[in-house]
Amino acid sequence: MNTPTTTPAAATSRRKFIGTTAAATVASTGLTVAQSANVAGSDQIKVGLIGCGGRGTGAASQALSTKQEGVFLHAVADAFKEKADGALSNLRNKVPDKVKVDDARIFAGTDAYQKVIESCDLVILTTPPGFRPYHFEAAVNAGKNIFMEKPVAVDSPGVRKVLEMAKVADEKNLKVVVGLQRRYQNCYREALAQVKEQGLIGDIVSGQVYWNGGGIWFRDKRPDQSELMYQINNWYFFTWLCGDHINEQHIHNIDVANWFIGGHPVSAQGMGGRMQRTEAKFGQIYDHHYVEYTYENGVRVNSQCRHQSGVANAVREEFTGTKGKIYLDNSGRCYVNNLKGETIWKYRPGGKDIGDVKGKAAKRLDPDPYQTEHDTLQAAIRDNTPLNNAYYGAESTMTAVMGRMATYSGKELKWEDALNSKVQHMPAIITPESEPPVSPGADGWYPIAIPGKDIPGAPVI
Ligand SMILES: NC(=O)c1ccc[n+]([C@@H]2O[C@H](COP(=O)([O-])OP(=O)(O)OC[C@H]3O[C@@H](n4cnc5c(N)ncnc54)[C@H](O)[C@@H]3O)[C@@H](O)[C@H]2O)c1
Repeated sequence: MNTPTTTPAAATSRRKFIGTTAAATVASTGLTVAQSANVAGSDQIKVGLIGCGGRGTGAASQALSTKQEGVFLHAVADAFKEKADGALSNLRNKVPDKVKVDDARIFAGTDAYQKVIESCDLVILTTPPGFRPYHFEAAVNAGKNIFMEKPVAVDSPGVRKVLEMAKVADEKNLKVVVGLQRRYQNCYREALAQVKEQGLIGDIVSGQVYWNGGGIWFRDKRPDQSELMYQINNWYFFTWLCGDHINEQHIHNIDVANWFIGGHPVSAQGMGGRMQRTEAKFGQIYDHHYVEYTYENGVRVNSQCRHQSGVANAVREEFTGTKGKIYLDNSGRCYVNNLKGETIWKYRPGGKDIGDVKGKAAKRLDPDPYQTEHDTLQAAIRDNTPLNNAYYGAESTMTAVMGRMATYSGKELKWEDALNSKVQHMPAIITPESEPPVSPGADGWYPIAIPGKDIPGAPVI
């Protein structure tokens, strides 16, 4: 898959072409670049939030906290009215001057996203990931700039849709940021420069990426709730909405592997299952996945993700090269050892020696990457510079989805076969009347994949 990176460091001739095309379009409309970046010559950016949960509220707050003038929240949508109200109340406390949402622009329901897209210039897509390809498609078709959270899909048809719409976004000169915030974090960017520009570890030959942690929230079914709305609310536990935690969470570390290696794996095989998730209520997802990804030239990356308590945790990445090894961690503890084990480079957050800074404090010495995402997006809108993360967002989503296909099926998968798979977990249209794609049996258990076995109704891959 051709995957142009759009980190500021990566200026490609394709980008220059897009930049030229965009400039020509601007010239032919007679608008200045700054004017054309917003809507119809206005100097305002009306922000719309779709998916008013934890991350949506955070992302909206960051979008409203840039230095850009004229940015305000105009409309919100959530599947549940009370969530939209809750996010608005939080945002009114946090950024009171930037929230201009009339009651008539608070939308609820599974089709509410369309109303926000219609009325805003920049939309924040932060629903459960299953919906993302369809919301992205609607936003691109409507010509809106987009911040969308990772992962960008839960299955191969969803990834293909995002790739198709990414091209349309380029044709329309839209700006797209994907919430893989390590790409916007100073320690990772400097570490990448040590690998790519300074050649400090030589050629990468292998890697390890981890998201081993304790688990996630659970939301009980309310007595008045339909099975569909229960699953949407408790989305994490259903493959059609979440894609499993290898996709939802571990994608961050998998994305770092693709980014540092400079492409996607050619195949994957692995194993996984449920050891602590032993109750029916935990839906369909596994509590551990182990995947061996093979990249071009036989470069191997071992990926582990676990949702279990009482065991060792790790959220980090390491890559071994012909000349040394790089250790990466979003706390800022990033360093390179040579083949003798001597440390030859250390990241210095805010110019300080990391040894002097305790724990997460190191993170606070650097700009918050969640904020940088929105600063970068709005600067690209303002300056009309090319920015489209949807390609690498889709590639890393596909890498995670391929890993899940491998752990659910127990089979080895090739990239092209995985990408072209017709297996679709997320239905194209969901209305409140839709039957959910999976239902519990009489015993309350949902169908769960077992490698090598044909479980009726289970997400085989
Ligand atoms: N980049 C990061 O570090 C990071 C951190 C957390 C979450 N995320 C991502 O953000 C997304 C949201 O996660 P969250 O933690 O905010 O979950 P959440 O459950 O707190 O919020 C999701 C919201 O979307 C709403 N929703 C569901 N279906 C909808 C629909 N069809 N239309 C409109 N609203 C709908 C839900 O009611 C809920 O309010 C996920 O993709 C997640 O992976 C990213």
